[in-house]
Amino acid sequence: MSRVRCTVAYVLFLGILGCVGVINGLGVNWGIIASHPLPPEIVVQLMKDSGIDKVKLFDTDKTVLNALAGSGIEVMVALPNVYLANMASPDKAKAWVKQNVTSYLGPKGVNITYVAIGNEPFLQGYNGSFVNVTFPALKNVQNALNDAGVGSKIKATVPCNADVYYSPWSNPVPSGGIFRPDIVSEMKKIVDFQDKNGAPFIVNIYPFISLYLGDGAFPTDYAFFDEISNPVTDNGRT
Ligand SMILES: *[C@@H]1O[C@H](CO)[C@@H](O)[C@H](O)[C@H]1NC(C)=O
Ligand SMILES: *[C@@H]1O[C@H](CO)[C@@H](O)[C@H](O)[C@H]1NC(C)=O
Ligand SMILES: *[C@@H]1O[C@H](CO)[C@@H](O)[C@H](O)[C@H]1NC(C)=O
Ligand SMILES: *[C@@H]1O[C@H](CO)[C@@H](O)[C@H](O)[C@H]1NC(C)=O
Repeated sequence: MSRVRCTVAYVLFLGILGCVGVINGLGVNWGIIASHPLPPEIVVQLMKDSGIDKVKLFDTDKTVLNALAGSGIEVMVALPNVYLANMASPDKAKAWVKQNVTSYLGPKGVNITYVAIGNEPFLQGYNGSFVNVTFPALKNVQNALNDAGVGSKIKATVPCNADVYYSPWSNPVPSGGIFRPDIVSEMKKIVDFQDKNGAPFIVNIYPFISLYLGDGAFPTDYAFFDEISNPVTDNGRT
């Protein structure tokens, strides 16, 4: 049997995504916009009891971060989209990093390892509002982390929506893929900067959403990471 290495992220309370082989970490997304939010200490305890050692937040909520302090759980904090434009100023980025990231570090602090810059800022539904403000925010926040002396441990990265990728229907294989034409110049700046800083590229892929909300062209076989999916052969790779 082939050994598959993967990091599984699943939405808390929605279910576990099955994954065959070696799992090197289990993480959840923790959003706090809810009709009946659980107290943060209870959520942290639930994570510990379930062996979940990584969490992705969508902001830098103080009560959530205080509950995570000392837990050892690896945390991705986030700068929400509405603050991206502000971070065009390096001084504002510095102040944000100081207040919302580095102030939580320390021996009994929060184990922050990533800062998400926006959340899916290039969704077409945003009409381009965040296209020109995302890269400057990424750059200024990572530079602020570097200047604060934590850049080797904490990486800034942009969680992209899946359709930052574009592959022509005439050649729908991975090697035929490029970035979406309207954002290709920003995407190139982003991946180049992230590469220079040793930061990961992140893309949120929800094939079941593509299946149910898309135009019907999404292949069912690929929606559920099913072992019986039709394999794709591309340049000799399967
Ligand atoms: C923080 O998370 C990393 C990655 O999971 C882990 O290696 C490290 O031990 C954690 N640090 C603390 C202080 O718990
Ligand atoms: C940053 O942290 C400060 C102090 O906790 C808080 O008042 C502010 O709302 C935070 N900013 C953002 C964008 O989360
Ligand atoms: C994007 O444009 C459409 C059509 O003009 C409009 O209905 C929608 O509200 C806009 N969305 C945003 C986030 O500005
Ligand atoms: C983004 O910048 C480009 C190039 O300067 C410009 O053509 C475009 O109108 C800008 N988009 C927005 C939404 O400001």
